[in-house]
Amino acid sequence: MAAERLDKLLASTGRWSRSEVKRLVREGRVLANGHAAASAEEKYDGEAVLLTVDGEEVRLRRFVYLMLNKPAGVVSATSGRDGKNVLDLLPEEYRRRGLFPVGRLDKDTVGLLLLTDDGALAHELLSPKKHVDKQYYARVTGELDGDDRAAFAEGMDLGGGFRCLPAELRILSSGAESEALVTVREGKFHQVRRMFSKRGKYVFYLQRVAMGPLRLDESLAPGEWRELSAAEEKMLK
Ligand code: URA
Repeated sequence: MAAERLDKLLASTGRWSRSEVKRLVREGRVLANGHAAASAEEKYDGEAVLLTVDGEEVRLRRFVYLMLNKPAGVVSATSGRDGKNVLDLLPEEYRRRGLFPVGRLDKDTVGLLLLTDDGALAHELLSPKKHVDKQYYARVTGELDGDDRAAFAEGMDLGGGFRCLPAELRILSSGAESEALVTVREGKFHQVRRMFSKRGKYVFYLQRVAMGPLRLDESLAPGEWRELSAAEEKMLK
């Protein structure tokens, strides 16, 4: 890693602004490799330097990856134009890092949402060419049967020139209201809702349970989040 200014390195953690770092340095609270930094402009290799603030080691990470259990009523955007957005659920230090959601869920869809500041990984996961599987648990009105399964598997024509790639419908229960797991390999606007609608069903609950190798951690209550484990991060990459 190329050497970078101390204020940039420390501000990249999201814990302090650059001007706060300057103040901390002036007050002698920042040590670099055991020596008090004389200026926030000093440059260090972020992968090699040991930085402490008030004696506490600062973990410098290039990127952050969070798993959020998105609740209903929150938009997967980074600005608040349409009401509360997913960044409003995170502490300030993450918001400052410029995290963004990888792909979108409808306002009323709940479940797994990955947030990161790693643009290259987000691009890979969203690239239409990569066909990353997304799995949803859906509750719908009306019965589900083998014809529905076949229609999903065939690749549905949603109109407007959009034909879905083959998708998997696993029926979990069927009745006046039914439950299913749906796996799609793309992420078109309202895709799962539109696919069911095409089969005459209304989706009244939709939860994303997996994205590629990443599964929603069921111990996260709606609105809760955690950082990905090292193993999850590795699987994604
Ligand atoms: N498909 C939908 O219809 N909505 C979502 O939020 C995600 C997939």
